[in-house]
Amino acid sequence: MKTVTTDRIVIVGAGLGALYAALKLAPRPVVMISPEPLGKGASSAWAQGGVAAAMDSGDSPESHARDTLNAGAGTVNADVAQMVTREARDHILDLTTMGTPFDRTDDGEYVLSREAAHSYARVVRVKGDQAGAEIMAALIDQVAKTPSIQVLEGTMAVSLDTEDGKVTGIAIQDSNETRSAPIMLRGAGYLLAGGGSGGLYAVTTNPPRIRGQVIGMAARAGAVIADAEFVQFHPTAMDVGEDPAPLATEALRGEGAILINKDGERFMQALHPDAELAPRDVVARGIFAQVQAGKRPMLDTRDSIGAEIKELFPSVAEYCARNGIDPATDPIPVAPAAHYHMGGIKTDTSGQATLGNLWVCGEASSTGLHGANRLASNGLLEALVYARICAEGIEAQIPAPTGTSAAISLDFQGDGNPPDAEAVTALRQTMTNHVGVVRNAEGLMQALHNIAALEQRDPSPSFQNMCATATLITLCALQREESRGAHERSDFPDTLPGAGERSEMTYANALNARDTLLKETT
Ligand code: SIN
Repeated sequence: MKTVTTDRIVIVGAGLGALYAALKLAPRPVVMISPEPLGKGASSAWAQGGVAAAMDSGDSPESHARDTLNAGAGTVNADVAQMVTREARDHILDLTTMGTPFDRTDDGEYVLSREAAHSYARVVRVKGDQAGAEIMAALIDQVAKTPSIQVLEGTMAVSLDTEDGKVTGIAIQDSNETRSAPIMLRGAGYLLAGGGSGGLYAVTTNPPRIRGQVIGMAARAGAVIADAEFVQFHPTAMDVGEDPAPLATEALRGEGAILINKDGERFMQALHPDAELAPRDVVARGIFAQVQAGKRPMLDTRDSIGAEIKELFPSVAEYCARNGIDPATDPIPVAPAAHYHMGGIKTDTSGQATLGNLWVCGEASSTGLHGANRLASNGLLEALVYARICAEGIEAQIPAPTGTSAAISLDFQGDGNPPDAEAVTALRQTMTNHVGVVRNAEGLMQALHNIAALEQRDPSPSFQNMCATATLITLCALQREESRGAHERSDFPDTLPGAGERSEMTYANALNARDTLLKETT
């Protein structure tokens, strides 16, 4: 394989964590591996809700940490929750200085939304539901003014090279259907910030390219993966036949929107004292049960928000308009969709993975903040906090280059292996059918069989990475014989006392366990 060597830090991804880390590392030279033009294709840019932070004088990081622990169903690392919530305010002020136009009251205070399972209104927002896009725009503007950051648009990472447990290179392909032969890029250090796994499911709110490839790539190189079974399903994706499914932000429920079914019944009141503002996993299961019963659940914003939805939530209003729905007069059909992977590449409190010279931030990581159920709007917050921690760790451990770093040019040639579109579709359908909102041993075993068969069909590294993550999610879901947070087992409905430790798994162990199970059942 052709090799290109650089003294830059290699950052995989181009979402919030990647951009923020690149800025925090400046003036140290970095190169970002970005599959799409900056601002396109990253989950962060699609985030509607905002960033959770105790900004009000009546609120506190302690209260935010408590809510994070409660939502996480016994598997949150309390030290991590305290640290992240304590740092939240500082990052909001930093983003403000960088030009993010957060919504303000007439007195200049931050407008704060309430979202599910928060005991306080503490989600800072931009133009109602534009937080992700606007924060990204502010950071992209800063990146454009920062000469130490080189962005390689149209490239994607497909595998890690290691020696003695340390990462020594990343194989990069042309992201246009990954048709090119990979080039090995050897840098000074490596940061993975390339998103989660939502797109491994047929019904998802994630951008099309976010399909667990970064987690799978690290797993195949030997990194420990934590909490793989904990996948969060957003309760109110719009059920309008689009892939990905457009999101109807939880902030709508914070403004009083209610959930009803086709018979006009408000079904959440019977399921939880907080009704529509119950933790996200509870609402997702409530909606899923309605879907299963053929009762067509819908989000009703008519009385609470009415025609003002166009000004208050422009993205939601636009998604409705393009699907012929007027939310001022019609309830919005909704269904749960894979939204956020709490699990990922295990990192310690300095953002380091179990492989040397490798840092991870954002959804690809599993820091222990989210436990079994992420608190709304803690995702962008975690990406910010750990992006800075990773940048500081890299700065402390890797000597800065002397002189100027040459810009990298990757001249892709030859035929790589593009993923087989039919195999990808079959994989996504398997995950939605058998590893979804409610799981059981029979379905999970079926999924393991299907994934193992699909893996044989398509050797492309990108697809193998997807299969690795799908296998880890499924196997860990099979091994967790209880229900906890977003992981609901119909055959093990109870939460077991004392079973709240995090799952940790290497891909080698997962394959051994899977092969033994498959042999026993064939
Ligand atoms: C939402 O706006 O409902 C999503 C926010 C999040 O996933 O944190």
